[in-house]
Amino acid sequence: MEQITLIAITKFGLETVVKNEITELGFENLRVSDGKIEFDAELSDIPRLNLWLRCADRVLLKIAEFKAFTFDELYEKTKTLPWEQWIPVDGEFPVDAKTVKSTLQSSKTCQSIVKKAVVDRLMDHYAVDSFSETGSLYSIKISIRDDIAQLTIDTSGVGLHKRGYREEGGDAPLKETLAAALVKLSFWAKDRLLIDPLCGSGTILIEAAMIARNIAPGLKRTFAAEEWPLIGSDVWQAARRAAQDAKLVNDDLQIFGYDIDAVSVKTARFNANKAGVSRNISFEQKDVKELWIDRQYGVLISNPPYGRRMANYRELNAIYIALNKTFRKKNGWSIYILTADSKFPDYFKRARPNRVRKLYNGNIKVNYYQYYGEKPPNEGV
Ligand SMILES: C[S@@+](CC[C@H](N)C(=O)[O-])C[C@H]1O[C@@H](n2cnc3c(N)ncnc32)[C@H](O)[C@@H]1O
Repeated sequence: MEQITLIAITKFGLETVVKNEITELGFENLRVSDGKIEFDAELSDIPRLNLWLRCADRVLLKIAEFKAFTFDELYEKTKTLPWEQWIPVDGEFPVDAKTVKSTLQSSKTCQSIVKKAVVDRLMDHYAVDSFSETGSLYSIKISIRDDIAQLTIDTSGVGLHKRGYREEGGDAPLKETLAAALVKLSFWAKDRLLIDPLCGSGTILIEAAMIARNIAPGLKRTFAAEEWPLIGSDVWQAARRAAQDAKLVNDDLQIFGYDIDAVSVKTARFNANKAGVSRNISFEQKDVKELWIDRQYGVLISNPPYGRRMANYRELNAIYIALNKTFRKKNGWSIYILTADSKFPDYFKRARPNRVRKLYNGNIKVNYYQYYGEKPPNEGV
């Protein structure tokens, strides 16, 4: 099948995680920039990448990259591209534009120019004077940065965080892509105990169970490129069958979630069930102040309320104090906390964090505080 260039889009701070995921899927020569990982692939790789990438937001097909200082230049260069190679006569091709630090400043004008150039090109090619746009979706993105225009077509459709298992979200749910990244950035491995004492709708634990069981995150959803005649349903079916066959049973995972809120616990159970991992995780309604840990080794990954969006500060302090009390002498526990509250390390006094990663939860700047625990005897990290 045809050689193409793909771009996996991710949130700032997660580029390395996504790069590793793409490498594990067998791709080489990855070019990493802010929020983007570009790499060469074949058209037939699009299904596998969309089905398996856990931490990327979407996968884009790169059409071209060129300098554009004037709208005429943008029009002419866009029109010379072989759009008919990708977009059939009934294809739907909306255009989305973004321009940053460039001579062409109006995203809206760039959007209409690109749309016009593609329409004109396709009209000439298909010898028609209008398009029904009733067929499969080819969402064109034009992004201009430092006067360099990049044109892509989105292969994913709905963002990859939508796995198809979460119908209900709870109060402030994490995106599934970020939750998976938190697990991947931790020292958790499937033979180790994992808890989230403030689990909300259970996203972190569900993603962990899916990683442990090698469940492809995209198995329960569809993708824009699934409708593209160019790839063909047989290639998609083969990728889906392979993902289905790759699932592991793993009945012995030790994953536990707690939340003070009964509705959140119910939602977490509902979501875990939909994700197919309900027998791998135990959820229980419990106040973190009542949490009692008798195990010497384990991993905790959690995102407490930030205080901005939920719970007042006094409640937040009580949560931090409870975590500190339970874990301050448990040196065999690795603790990972995602929060926008920079005061967390002042309360968690076991040690200073071994590492603080700057990430984004939606548009909120957050820190991922990582406290490494001692290694369990006779086990890996
Ligand atoms: C930011 S949310 C967690 C969201 C979760 N990561 C998800 O993806 O749905 C914080 C959770 O902490 C819970 N919580 C607040 N105070 C608590 C307490 N004292 N004990 C246990 N859970 C608590 C809230 O009910 C809420 O579900």
